[in-house]
Amino acid sequence: MKIAFGNDHSAVELKKELIPWMEEQGYEVINVGTDTAESIDYPIVGEKVALLVASHEADLGIAVCGTGLGISLACNKVNGIRACVCSESYTARYSRLHNNCNILCFGARVIGPETAKLLIHEFLTTEFEGGRHERRVNEIMDIERRNSSGG
Ligand code: RB5
Repeated sequence: MKIAFGNDHSAVELKKELIPWMEEQGYEVINVGTDTAESIDYPIVGEKVALLVASHEADLGIAVCGTGLGISLACNKVNGIRACVCSESYTARYSRLHNNCNILCFGARVIGPETAKLLIHEFLTTEFEGGRHERRVNEIMDIERRNSSGG
């Protein structure tokens, strides 16, 4: 499974622990985040992760900034993206099961590496349940279509 991974300067140390851990489990990680402490604006990184997921070059994405909020807002501006901010594993699991989220976001200044690993595990190993949830997710995507200006 190919995973797009993006982070701003706040998450460099966390990312250095998470990517090798993901690779050990057989995930192919496409790193589009920064690898230095120099400040970078999270919308730039969020868009890169989102475009890889929306184009299906990556199966799912992970995007990390200080809180997870800014980068999730940026990701969600790309058509086809459903990015969610999580800080505990129940929400990470249900974001896939019920919402078919395709980008997991979290805050490097909010959670530590072990919680991040739990979130990633739930997100990457849970499949969308479909059924009544498919109708609701389609209703979300209809909102995007109705309100899209086409750039
Ligand atoms: C950067 O200082 C910080 O604002 C950013 O990482 C993020 O938390 C924004 O939502």
